[in-house]
Amino acid sequence: MLPIDLSGKRAFIAGVADDGGFGFVIAKAMAEAGASVSVGTWPPALNIFLNLIERGKMDASLTLSDGRKMAFEKIYPLDAAYDALADAPEEIRENKRYKERGDFSIEGVTRALIQDFGEKSLDIVVHSLANGPEVKKPLLDTSRPGYLTAVSVSAYSLISMVRNLGPLMRPGGSFLSLTYMAGERVIPGYGGGMSSAKAALESDTRTLAYEAGRRFGVRVNTISAGPWASRAASAIGFIDMMIRYCKANAAIPRELDAHEVGATAAFLASPLAGAITGTTVYVDNGYHAMGMAVDPTALGA
Ligand SMILES: NC(=O)c1ccc[n+]([C@@H]2O[C@H](COP(=O)([O-])OP(=O)(O)OC[C@H]3O[C@@H](n4cnc5c(N)ncnc54)[C@H](O)[C@@H]3O)[C@@H](O)[C@H]2O)c1
Repeated sequence: MLPIDLSGKRAFIAGVADDGGFGFVIAKAMAEAGASVSVGTWPPALNIFLNLIERGKMDASLTLSDGRKMAFEKIYPLDAAYDALADAPEEIRENKRYKERGDFSIEGVTRALIQDFGEKSLDIVVHSLANGPEVKKPLLDTSRPGYLTAVSVSAYSLISMVRNLGPLMRPGGSFLSLTYMAGERVIPGYGGGMSSAKAALESDTRTLAYEAGRRFGVRVNTISAGPWASRAASAIGFIDMMIRYCKANAAIPRELDAHEVGATAAFLASPLAGAITGTTVYVDNGYHAMGMAVDPTALGA
C-alpha cells in the first residue's frame, strides 16, 4: 500500500465558512490523512459558521470515515483583502462583524498561528477563497475598483499568504490554491475580473514556486477544479448549467465529485508529491482537454 500519510502535519486552510465548499472538503481529506487542521474564515461569515458547528448542524459532514468527528484545531478570523490591520478602512474595523475579532488581516493570522503553535509550526497552507464584487458584469463593463478588488482578494492574497506564512513552514511544506479554467479560456458570464484573477493566480503559482521554493523550501501548486455548486459558485448564477454542460462534454461524462478535489489536495500536500511544484493540476473529469462540445443537446439542438 502507498498511503497518503499526513500524520504529524498541521494544515491551515483559508476560506472555510460552511461545509459546502472546496475548503471544507479539502480540510476533511487532510484530516482523513491524519493532519491537524485550522481554518481561516471571512469575518462576515464567522458567526454563522461557529453557530452551525456549535448547534451540531455540521456533525454529519464532520464525521470521518472511521466514525471520528473532525474538530478544527483553531478557527481564525481572516479577511484576505488586508495584509495588515492598518490596511483595513475604519468602516471595516468598526463594523460589528469585525470589531470584536482582533487582527483579522493576513499578518494577524500569521501572528496568531505563531502564538498558538510556534515559529515553525505549519506544513500545509491552502488558499480556497475568491471574491469578485462585480462577477456578474462582463469584463468589458467591470469598473476599475471592481476589477482590482477581484484580483486583490482572489489572487494577491496568495502572494501575501506565501510571504507571511512561508517562514512558518517546516521542511517539505506545501501551498495550494484553487483556480478555474476561466483564467485560460473564455467562460461567458464569469466576469468582474474574476477570469483575470484566476489567470494571475495560475501565473503567480509558477513564479511563487520558484521564489518561495528558493526562499522557504516550499512547493506551490494550484488545482483547476471543474464546476461545483458551492456557495460562491452558486452566487455567479449559472452553476447548474455549467455542471450539466461539463457533464455532457467532459472526457469522462459525469459530475465532479468534490472528494476528488480533496484527495488531490491531500496528495499534493503529501511527501508523495515532493517533486511537484509550480503546476496547475486539473481535477475536472478532463473537460479542459476538449476542444468541441460533444453533446448536441448542450447546444439546445
Ligand atoms: N465551485 C466551483 O465551481 C469552483 C471551480 C473552480 C475553482 N473554484 C475556486 O475554489 C475556491 C473556493 O471556492 P468554493 O467554490 O469552494 O466556494 P466557497 O464559497 O466555499 O469558498 C469561498 C470562500 O471564500 C471566502 N471569502 C470571500 N472573500 C474573502 C475574503 N476577503 N477573505 C477571506 N475569505 C473570503 C468565503 O467566505 C468562502 O468561505 C475559490 O478560489 C474558487 O474560485 C471553485
